[in-house]
Amino acid sequence: MNLITDLDRKYPSIADLEAGVRARIPRFAFEYMMRGHGRYDCRERNIDALRRVDLTPEYVIEKVIPKLETPLFGRTWSAPFGVAPVGLSGLIWPRGPEIAARAATRAGLPFVLSTYATASIERIAAATDGNAWFQLYTPNVPEMRRDLLKRARTAGYEVLLVTVDVPGHTRHRVDMRNGLSVPPRFNLLTVIDMLSRPAWSFAMLRSGMPTFENLTPYLPPGTSFAEGAQFFRDISLGHISMDTLREIRDQWPGKMLVKGILAGADARRCVELGVEGVVVSNHGGRQLDAAVSAVEAIPEVRAEIGPDMVLIADGGVRCGLDVARMIALGADFVLCARAVYFGVGAIGSRGGDHAIHILLEELEEAMRQIGVTTPAELPGRLRPRATAS
Ligand SMILES: Cc1cc2nc3c(=O)[nH]c(=O)nc-3n(C[C@H](O)[C@H](O)[C@H](O)COP(=O)(O)O)c2cc1C
Repeated sequence: MNLITDLDRKYPSIADLEAGVRARIPRFAFEYMMRGHGRYDCRERNIDALRRVDLTPEYVIEKVIPKLETPLFGRTWSAPFGVAPVGLSGLIWPRGPEIAARAATRAGLPFVLSTYATASIERIAAATDGNAWFQLYTPNVPEMRRDLLKRARTAGYEVLLVTVDVPGHTRHRVDMRNGLSVPPRFNLLTVIDMLSRPAWSFAMLRSGMPTFENLTPYLPPGTSFAEGAQFFRDISLGHISMDTLREIRDQWPGKMLVKGILAGADARRCVELGVEGVVVSNHGGRQLDAAVSAVEAIPEVRAEIGPDMVLIADGGVRCGLDVARMIALGADFVLCARAVYFGVGAIGSRGGDHAIHILLEELEEAMRQIGVTTPAELPGRLRPRATAS
């Protein structure tokens, strides 16, 4: 029988952590984390589509003792999910990336570091145990890209995710209204916003305002923060061509995945490139409000890449059962972004651990209830949706 802790009582689910983070961090930071593209239809569709994935349990079988351990890329992870890359997560809670990375390490799960994280490749390598993967936003300066890859390799990262679903600048009305930049542009409203969230403000004062640590080595000396933010916008390549992906493939000796795949045709191009896997993702609904959800895209992508290439999926996971649903649909592994960072923002330094603890317990409970011992058995329990005739 599991022990119910004080944290379990206060935050029994990811939804409770979401309510907690909303109350604890300034509105501009919460809105940055929550926002989708446009009217947020895609963000909501991710959640709704998962809710509509039904599984058929079996009960009159041998007693089930779920084993969540999942082998992937030469390691056995304690469960088939990890923490997705989140840029600027130091705004959600000071030292957000380290908190999430350490929590993933303690739990035996992978943590993906964003190029736009507020902790450097090297700092996260030191805080983890070979379980950190690196996500690349490709700079348009080839030497900078080569250097980022070299730093990641030297620091011991073995898995690279190249994000392709940000081909250009996207208008985000809340960030524009809130004047969100790094560091935040202070005006009277931002100051009132921060004063109303003293725990966040004190923690931020103690740790210092977050910066894009991975990229600061490339800033011209004497660059102000505002100039730095502009510099990062200017160096972003945006659209990633097949040629660029081929070059990255040649430069990266480890495992390489392409993140942001939704179309079968794109999946086919990834097979041609010889990458080890794809991440079926619509970026948490932040890029294209009309984009299909991973739930809808997985079957087509899986059909293109075949059974052996790795398929990781993300978007809308808010409980352990959602992880089981993604795997039942055909994913080998799942990434969670907001669910984990809700914990980080709601609780602080042990918040990533609590969010992961909830997801692990719920996944184990789901597998026991469905009647499967391993995640690999989940696809057999997927109940096909009746289609309207
Ligand atoms: C605040 C925030 C920042 C993100 N930053 C990045 C990023 O830097 N690189 C990236 O590839 N994806 C980024 N993503 C997308 C996530 O990696 C992931 O694909 C998506 O959020 C999964 O959906 P979920 O938040 O519903 O779990 C970000 C998502 C959020 C919410």
